[in-house]
Amino acid sequence: MSSSAPVYQLIFRSVLSRLDPEQAHGLVVSGLQTAQRLGVTRVLEKLTRPAPRLRTQALGLTFPSPFGLAAGFDKGAHSVLPLASLGFGHIEIGTVTGQAQPGNDKPRLFRLVQDRALINRMGFNNDGATAVRQRLERTRSRMERMRRAGRHVPVVGVNIGKTKIVPLEGAVEDYLISTRTLAPVADYLVVNVSSPNTPGLRQLQDIEALRPLLRAVGEEADAAAGRHVPLLVKIAPDLADADIDAVAQLVQELALDGIIATNTTVSRDGLRTAPEKVSALGAGGLSGPVLAPRSLEVLKRLRKVLKDDVVIISVGGVQGPEDVAQRLAHGADLVQGYTSFIYEGAFWVRRINRGLARRR
Ligand SMILES: Cc1cc2nc3c(=O)[nH]c(=O)nc-3n(C[C@H](O)[C@H](O)[C@H](O)COP(=O)(O)O)c2cc1C
Repeated sequence: MSSSAPVYQLIFRSVLSRLDPEQAHGLVVSGLQTAQRLGVTRVLEKLTRPAPRLRTQALGLTFPSPFGLAAGFDKGAHSVLPLASLGFGHIEIGTVTGQAQPGNDKPRLFRLVQDRALINRMGFNNDGATAVRQRLERTRSRMERMRRAGRHVPVVGVNIGKTKIVPLEGAVEDYLISTRTLAPVADYLVVNVSSPNTPGLRQLQDIEALRPLLRAVGEEADAAAGRHVPLLVKIAPDLADADIDAVAQLVQELALDGIIATNTTVSRDGLRTAPEKVSALGAGGLSGPVLAPRSLEVLKRLRKVLKDDVVIISVGGVQGPEDVAQRLAHGADLVQGYTSFIYEGAFWVRRINRGLARRR
């Protein structure tokens, strides 16, 4: 486990951990946005900028670091620039759905502090593809100016999912709305079929449902953007090994660019938190270090099946630079994290990048 910044640990213990987790998230995000408005993030950027030797080529793009922020933290692309100033090599926004939706009833996000884990049943709360597109357009033009000024600019991926009220039979058309709207502003696109919090969604991981979906999204994305938009599919850790192999084969059959593995798990195995406490929280996806062994196992399995040119983004339970290095050593091209960011604070990314740079 990486050592966390003492100041953040103090704030976490004395303030954030006493708040409802979703409120704490909101507080942190508005803090980042204020820092951005005050110009503090420009200073931050100087402290956190990844070393040039971390530059990584993948998906036909240059990533300033192999380590990025997983989907779900910035669902609506509200805070891409302040998050960029923390040193992420990429930021995956979303999940965005075709239509705006409120998500599940609150409370829907829970901390398991003993496990440094989270359980969430957010249910894709987001303000829909059109609103997110407008926000991303503005962000991208600012990023273009930053790029010209030689500043740190991360790759921005867009993760899309199914609108809850759309029945599974209408899923392809619903994903196509998001594709058409968002592919032009995405460096890469992710089809999320693995969240446990949208009823029926994970059935789209069945090969016979996944094939037409991925084929249609791939064609639509390139047509809408007028260029090839790298396309990846994000899978659950709860798939049986044979199903993981089948998705990998499908990705090759369709010449997709990559796979993101993994999303949160519906399993509750391996937790230290008392089972009564865990079950009282109810349904949702579990994330954090407890997910790491399965996430690593899925990575190894995928790398065995996939040709080298198919990109794997490994995510699930990564805490420190040693975990990121391990994923890269086992064939991940890029690595993402989310839950440990909540427990470790703003300088977490910097610590990971520095640890990685020391190893190169
Ligand atoms: C609160 C929360 C919300 C999430 N929302 C999404 C989402 O909208 N789309 C998605 O693909 N993954 C989502 N995830 C999953 C993460 O992207 C990631 O795959 C998972 O948490 C495992 O990584 P971690 O252990 O580093 O958190 C969410 C995770 C959390 C904790």
